[in-house]
Amino acid sequence: MDNSSRSTFTGKLGFILAAAGSAVGLGNLWRFPYLAAQYGGGAFLLVYIILAITFGFVLMVTEIAIGRKTQLSPMQAFGALNKKWGWLGKLATLVPILIFPYYCLIGGWVTKYTGVMISGQLEASADDSFFGAYISSTFDPLIWFGIFILATTLVIIFGVNKGIEKLSRFLMPALLVITVGLSIYVVTRPGAGAGVKYYLLPSLENLSAKTFLAALGQLFYSMSLAMGIMITYGSYLSKQQSIEKSARQIEIFDTAIALLAGLMIVPAVFVFSGGDKEALGTGPSLMFVTLPKVFNSMPGGRWLGVAFFVLVLFAAITSSVSIMEAIVSGLIDSFAMKRNTATFIVLIYGIIIGVVCSFGFGIWSGVSIFGFDILDFLDFISNSILLPLVGMLTCIMVGFAVKPEVIINEIELNEKFTIKKFYIIMVKWVAPIFIFFILLSSVLSTFGIINI
Ligand code: TRP
Repeated sequence: MDNSSRSTFTGKLGFILAAAGSAVGLGNLWRFPYLAAQYGGGAFLLVYIILAITFGFVLMVTEIAIGRKTQLSPMQAFGALNKKWGWLGKLATLVPILIFPYYCLIGGWVTKYTGVMISGQLEASADDSFFGAYISSTFDPLIWFGIFILATTLVIIFGVNKGIEKLSRFLMPALLVITVGLSIYVVTRPGAGAGVKYYLLPSLENLSAKTFLAALGQLFYSMSLAMGIMITYGSYLSKQQSIEKSARQIEIFDTAIALLAGLMIVPAVFVFSGGDKEALGTGPSLMFVTLPKVFNSMPGGRWLGVAFFVLVLFAAITSSVSIMEAIVSGLIDSFAMKRNTATFIVLIYGIIIGVVCSFGFGIWSGVSIFGFDILDFLDFISNSILLPLVGMLTCIMVGFAVKPEVIINEIELNEKFTIKKFYIIMVKWVAPIFIFFILLSSVLSTFGIINI
């Protein structure tokens, strides 16, 4: 790749927004709330926030610095830092490959709901069985999935990235405003108190190794960490800008949206299920089952529903584009493929696996892999196994092969790194050891070898 032609983001805001556009997506709005609901509300939040400030921050700074230092995409960046570690770049690229198809399937669900709101079927969609009937049908979900994955592909082909960057400036703040407004509305409903309490107050009996693993996987997923994305963005960051501050701003924005999304959805479940805790365990369907009920109960809910799902759709597209781009550029870099060929291959692959995932809710709903349905299985392998694994290996590589000083020097090109000592201890020891143990205990327990 010709480094001299590598463009840099125009302003400070440009980088933050592009990175935030990749980070803020279905992970925040769809995945975070249902995980928080499943893994004990406040306990999950607490663990998540602690991990975000420590591990998340360390990894974010590391990845941005690797990208800016090497000016390369992840496929080559690891190898450029240390020859023996080149394979880690390939492993990191495996994550987007696994996530891409099902991310687009969920994107299709969001597209469907946008259509439902626009065409005035809000009341029907607020019915308990609406969502289940939709995802288990054979063709309808495929059509919406097709629309979403094609839209993502078009953005990649025409590279309307500039346009997306411009749109982000307007739509990201809009998303924030709507999310704040809706959470205020939900929290002030009668009966929401119990839900708010469940969401915010940590109770220790809900805490287990699985909570840590789920929170850690979610953290990496939500911040697009441990899969090379931030390395790519870092390679576009200009040398004058502060890595530390940028990392902090992306983290704060991403976490704020996730926390608010939870505050909007978890208490709403309490209100509309009459305090039934079981309703919290419905997993991936949580957002689609609960939110239509909230909108349906509001005056003017239909238009809020439209606005909300359009914004989620937008957040999902900016993220799915970054996922697809990671795979496409990986193919180009490793097989010297043409851009269009690579894009086409990824599209076909995405469609095939996406269709399989969709059938996993319908005609193939009997299929179960280690007790997961197909989508959940892909989600588990990528987020609960590969992301923590790549995160751990990146820390070990930086800590012992590359040396933390290399990263610190890159950060200190233009300012003092305020947490140098903390960073070194974290990268070398705390992060790898900690991640190793939760990974081990959770994998063993998932496959029934130990009971935690
Ligand atoms: N972070 C995004 C979200 O919260 C998802 C995402 C963007 C992602 N880029 C990625 C996930 C690359 C895996 C790989 O929805």
